[in-house]
Amino acid sequence: MTPLLGFFDSGIGGLTVLRQVLERHGPVQCIYLGDTARVPYGSRSAPEIRLIAAEVVAWLRDQQVSTVVMACNTTNALARDVAEGQAGGPVIGLIGAAAAMVQTSRVGVLATPATVASEAYRFSIEALHPGTLVVEQACPEFVPLIESGDLSSDELRRTAKEYLHPLLEASVESIVLGCTHYPLLEPVLRQLLPDSVQLIDPAVGVARQLDSVLGAPKLSVGEGLHLDDCRFCVTADPDGFATRATPWLGERPRVQLEVLQS
Ligand code: DGL
Repeated sequence: MTPLLGFFDSGIGGLTVLRQVLERHGPVQCIYLGDTARVPYGSRSAPEIRLIAAEVVAWLRDQQVSTVVMACNTTNALARDVAEGQAGGPVIGLIGAAAAMVQTSRVGVLATPATVASEAYRFSIEALHPGTLVVEQACPEFVPLIESGDLSSDELRRTAKEYLHPLLEASVESIVLGCTHYPLLEPVLRQLLPDSVQLIDPAVGVARQLDSVLGAPKLSVGEGLHLDDCRFCVTADPDGFATRATPWLGERPRVQLEVLQS
């Protein structure tokens, strides 16, 4: 049976994960849920995030997905067990994948306040690479700025500079983009960082982990993403989502509105 993947995030961030998967595997059957009615997740309390994860994953299960991809670090950090309890099938997450990609002994992590407070990245990286220095930085402003469609303003650049400062002070050699929205900021971050600092996108590791579900990578994927088998759903503002998603998908997706909250 062809696998049906279920991706979820609070908004457009998870598209960075979907894109890595499509680039590695070619066309895949999937449902993407952007919970735009409740973005940002990362400034919410742990109980709220766990409740949201339960609802979202139950909805994906009702859509008959065979594998859930947590395209959101915040729920991965605080509610992985909840997702596993609801999914009824395998759950693929970002944090373990990112920890496996770390190759330097001084690592920075940029993430949402909730992810940083959970220390899930610190625990995962230290468990796999004992003795590694892990410096975590919460970035509360990033997701609202990204979801407003603002990716190159002076405000964003100023904010990025401020968040990078403690990591550069600690002489980190690599930085984990510990929120799936942040790869969208890569051009800005690259401008502010020395070339020697490596950026780690956990989605690359997730796409590799999916080899176990989708088979070996398709080396002949070629140009452009194949979205014909992807269904996009959001919990608010389908038009706005479609507009913001267009540059990252290379075409304007058709987006359905779904009501999840009971
Ligand atoms: N993109 C998600 C993450 O990876 C959620 C960000 C948010 O809504 O605050 O953490």
